[in-house]
Formats: sequence, C-alpha cells, structure tokens
Amino acid sequence: MIPSQRHRFTMPEDIHYLNCAYMSPLSNDVVAAVAKGAALKQQPWTYGAADFFVAPETFRTNAAALMQAPVDCMAIIPSASYGLAIAAANLPLAKGQEIIVLADQFPSNLYIWRERAKETGAKIVTVQREANAAWTDAVLAAIGPDTAIVAVPHCHWADGGMVDLVAVGAACRAVGSALVLDLTQSLGAMPFDCTAVQPDFAIAACYKWLLSPYGTGMLYVDPRYHEGRSIEQAWINRAGSEDFSRLVDYRDDFQPGARRFDMGEKSNPTLLFGAIAGMDMLLEWGVPAICETLGKVNDEIAAAAAAIGLSALPKEARAPHFLSLSFPGEVPAGLMEMLSAANVFISQRSQSLRVTPHVYNERADWEALIAVLGEI
Ligand SMILES: Cc1ncc(COP(=O)(O)O)c(C=O)c1O
Repeated sequence: MIPSQRHRFTMPEDIHYLNCAYMSPLSNDVVAAVAKGAALKQQPWTYGAADFFVAPETFRTNAAALMQAPVDCMAIIPSASYGLAIAAANLPLAKGQEIIVLADQFPSNLYIWRERAKETGAKIVTVQREANAAWTDAVLAAIGPDTAIVAVPHCHWADGGMVDLVAVGAACRAVGSALVLDLTQSLGAMPFDCTAVQPDFAIAACYKWLLSPYGTGMLYVDPRYHEGRSIEQAWINRAGSEDFSRLVDYRDDFQPGARRFDMGEKSNPTLLFGAIAGMDMLLEWGVPAICETLGKVNDEIAAAAAAIGLSALPKEARAPHFLSLSFPGEVPAGLMEMLSAANVFISQRSQSLRVTPHVYNERADWEALIAVLGEI
C-alpha cells in the first residue's frame, strides 16, 4: 500500500475529493513544473531551438514507460478525440464491415466511428454486458469475420466494468481486425502491457489518471502505421526541422517512428513540463502499487456501501481503481447537493455514482461519503 500522498497536493482536510475519473488535482510538483514552463515563455531569450525537442522527447519517454511500449511508437496529442481521429484516418474500412464498441461508451470513442461508418457503409455493433459481469465475454462474442475495428477502453468510463484486453487483442488478430484503445480511464491506475495486448492504436488523455494538465495526451501507434497519414502537417514533424535556418528547404520525409503524428505546437513547455512531472510521480510510486492501493480502498468503500444497501459490480468484473455504486432504485433526489454540502465530490453518471479515489485520499474522505449515503 502506498501511504497517503496528500502532503504533495494542495487539498484542505475538509475537502473529500473522490473524483479522479472526472479530473485529477494537479500536485504541487506539477504546478511548480507548469510555472517553470511559463517562466520560459516569460523570457523567450532563454528558450533555444533545441528546447523545442528536449521536453517532447522526455514526455515521450515517460509515456512509453506507462504504456510499456517503445519510445518511437509514442506521439504527443492534445486529447483523446485527436488520437482517435488519427486511428480512424489510418484504418481501412469497407461497406458491410463492423466496428465494435461498448454500450454507453465515452462519446470521443464513438462519434468518430459513426462518421467513418457513414462515409464507408460500415456498421457500428454495440455490445451490452450481462448483469454483474465484465465486458470481455460480450466483446469476444461480437468479434467475427466482418469485424474490421474493435474500439474499446480497458474499463468502462461509467461503471468501471473491465475488458480483458489481452483476450480481446488475440481475438482481433484471429479475424484480422484492428484494435483501438481509449485508455483515458485506466492508464496510470492499472498496469497496461502494450506488448501483450498488441493494439493498432492506443490513446490516453492525461488529465485524469495521468495526473497531468488539461490539453495533454499520448498516442501509441503500432510500427505498421508509421508511414501513415497524420491529420495535420506540422512543420516540426518533418525531418531536419531541428535546423531552423533551413525550414523552407521543404522536405517530404518525417521525424522517425510515430513522431509524424505529434500535434502542431507540441513543444509547449507549460503543458509538457507539467505532464512530465505528473507522470514522474506515477513512475515513482509504480503503477502496480497504485492499482493495489486504490483497489484496497475501493474494496473498503464497496463493503461499507453494501452494508447500507448500495451495490457495486463484483470485484472480478470491475477495474480495481474504479468503483461505481448503485441504489436499489434510482439515485435519490437531492443526493448530489447533500454530498457537495458536505464537501464530498464524486460523479453521478446515469443511475450510478462513480467513486474514484487516488493516493491523495485518506480514510476521512470515504467515511464522509459513507456518512452522507447512510443518512439518505
Ligand atoms: C473514456 C474517456 N475518454 C476520453 C475522455 C476525454 O476525451 P477528450 O480528450 O476527447 O476530451 C474522457 C473524459 O471523461 C473519458 O472518460
């Protein structure tokens, strides 16, 4: 178990923030790193041409460590939707073929596929899980000879239900389907082994479980797409862009690996320094230890919630870091107001309460949650 890390955040004792799936707070280290990045822009004469390349490579190295992927396969993106648009632009799709998604999947990982389906005549297949089960069996049952793309998360953004990505990856390869992953609600909180899963593209926005500023994200691109199409033509992604005196010796070749997919103005020191510091903390604690710690906290919350009549997915069906509590009927009216009056912050998604602690939380936080739930 990782001991409380609250001292590394600016979080008053009476604030009970159990809402990392909404957005993580920036740690003190991240805020200092953001300020350091902003200070460079305050004095641009201290920011040389080489600096445009140094922080992006450090970001890429940290991103690769968290994805367990080669550094050359990582690209810097501003959002999950941006990475998903790159995946969609590079995957073949034909009339009659199928794209598999989960029911009520996060919209960034749905709208782009609807668009591609409309353009090509392909079909979206939406899978539904059995009550109290993980999503894996439903996804595996839907994969067949017509499957062209499986576009899923590691755990569902609303109910925390798991997808076994190693099993889904193998099933995709067996039928020749591509696998696209939105890891925004899991990377950094749950181990992910890119080498074992073998996705075609894997994306994570960094402002939640990666403890980074808003507007930062990472994209894994499998080597077979490294000659693919980027969605913008950023000058800095072309080969030789390090030499600012020769930028109009226009080039057709790119920086190596997945760098051609980096977003325009990727070298933003304010955001990159912050994201690097956020990921440094995760790497210092270790993702397996984070997962185990959050899993134990959530087991405790789930047990206390069960004692007052609320249910959660069984442990084997949900991601350890991600708890979703349900009332026997609908969520009682006024509950969210009562919680915020007690400084307890969680999310309501549909008829469930999303409870997502992190290592800055302490027992008093979940006790305050259970006290309000018990009262109502
Ligand atoms: C599963 C998932 N993906 C992506 C996002 C964010 O998407 P984007 O980066 O496109 O704003 C969220 C935000 O809640 C999410 O829950």
